[in-house]
Amino acid sequence: MKLGQNFLWGGAMAANQCEGAAFEDGKGLSLMDKIPDAEHGRKEVLYQPHLTLQKDHGSYPSHEAIDFYHRYKEDLSLLGKLGLKAFRTSISWSRIFPLGDETEPNEAGLQFYDDLFDECLKQGMEPVVTLCHFDVPWHLVEKYGSWRSRKMIDFYEHYCEVVLTRYKDKVKYWMTFNEINMMTHIPFLGGGVIIGKDEDFNQIVYQAAHYQLTASAKATATAHRINPDFKIGCMMAAGTFYPYTCHPEDVMAACDANSRNYIFIDVQMRGEYSSYAECLFKQMELTLDILPEDLVLIKANTCDFIGFSYYSSRLTSAHPVDVKIADGNAITTLRNPHLSITKWGRQIDPIGLRVTMNDLYQRYQKPLFIVENGLGCEDVLANDGVHDSYRIDYLSAHISEMEKAILLDGVHCLGYLAWGIIDLVSAGSGEMDKRYGLIYVDKHNDGSGSLKRIPKDSYYWYQQLIANQGEII
Ligand code: BG6
Repeated sequence: MKLGQNFLWGGAMAANQCEGAAFEDGKGLSLMDKIPDAEHGRKEVLYQPHLTLQKDHGSYPSHEAIDFYHRYKEDLSLLGKLGLKAFRTSISWSRIFPLGDETEPNEAGLQFYDDLFDECLKQGMEPVVTLCHFDVPWHLVEKYGSWRSRKMIDFYEHYCEVVLTRYKDKVKYWMTFNEINMMTHIPFLGGGVIIGKDEDFNQIVYQAAHYQLTASAKATATAHRINPDFKIGCMMAAGTFYPYTCHPEDVMAACDANSRNYIFIDVQMRGEYSSYAECLFKQMELTLDILPEDLVLIKANTCDFIGFSYYSSRLTSAHPVDVKIADGNAITTLRNPHLSITKWGRQIDPIGLRVTMNDLYQRYQKPLFIVENGLGCEDVLANDGVHDSYRIDYLSAHISEMEKAILLDGVHCLGYLAWGIIDLVSAGSGEMDKRYGLIYVDKHNDGSGSLKRIPKDSYYWYQQLIANQGEII
């Protein structure tokens, strides 16, 4: 199967997982710079920030990451040679506004992204830019409690206005927040929200999410005003929930889990909270600060496409069952006996991508954009390269299902971006050795390594695939 010439084959990364240079050229610290590696308590900080943040954990992978900040020319040249048509990264908010609440931006930060996007275009790649990929300026977390505060809408809006204006002739595809549904699963990673043990979790996360949704609508309005040709996307951690059995109660449980997972994208794509969400908020007895003007703004400024990450389907049951739990990309899922699983607990389900694409397209009837998909695993660097046939199998199976969704099911999809196209720091585990890349980076969990880049076998495979317009050989 072949896709059209305009299909955006590409790769994706995020500033905090690749740039490093955490203290350079006036950059302020972001919340990601406060999250240590696996050995030094990453999990505790991610899940219990209220208890663990004050401690000095000693090792912070984002501070150097893969040093993309200094090596982006070499990296983009390799990606250009690979034949990518699109390259996704994010702008580090605290490089532009080191504190987050200033009026004047940091020119050195703006210049860095000017150079980066110029280089992208020079290499023939369309930049796809996430405005906030988990990395809220740390000062905003400390002073305002991050998205717990309505003030964040204005700080975010100001930041967006500055970068959308600056890069209006260089970048066309934007996404407002990475995986906005992370807020209800890992609120600290999802938006710098720290919740005390005695606080009402749902009240806080749904309130914070509402502020993000309002900010997203405001940024979308600003973007379309600055350049009507901009394409603005929402972005969700997707992956359809399957019922554990065909028992109607399990089917209902899956239906409920899916409705809940779509709550924020419903707002961003349909311009209003679903009646499902309204019922849920009532059942949870939430008292949300949702102003009538927020709802007007949201209604008038829906997104143009649905960006999503897909790593696996998910599985749920109405009743406690005696099966293991797997990692549904930070969202809990039961272990599906029909799927294989990685060392890090992620299940592999290529058909689930086709199912998810159909679900999303039928629900919203707007273009999809797969902005993350990939396999995180250990690679061995041999004398003659990295022979990652397992990654080729993974990518080829997922791409094949995506092509079926497009060509057989009629789903409109703008592109496919392989996640972690160059090895980078894992967001969840902080490890380097959980590798997604098609390009190997000589760096390890303990920080050792020359940072040298080495194309893997999957690099040459993807190069061929793109040259053949997606035909899998
Ligand atoms: C997505 C994030 O959730 O999954 C990425 O947008 C992340 O930032 C990716 O890296 C893979 O997850 P992990 O935890 O293996 O890095």
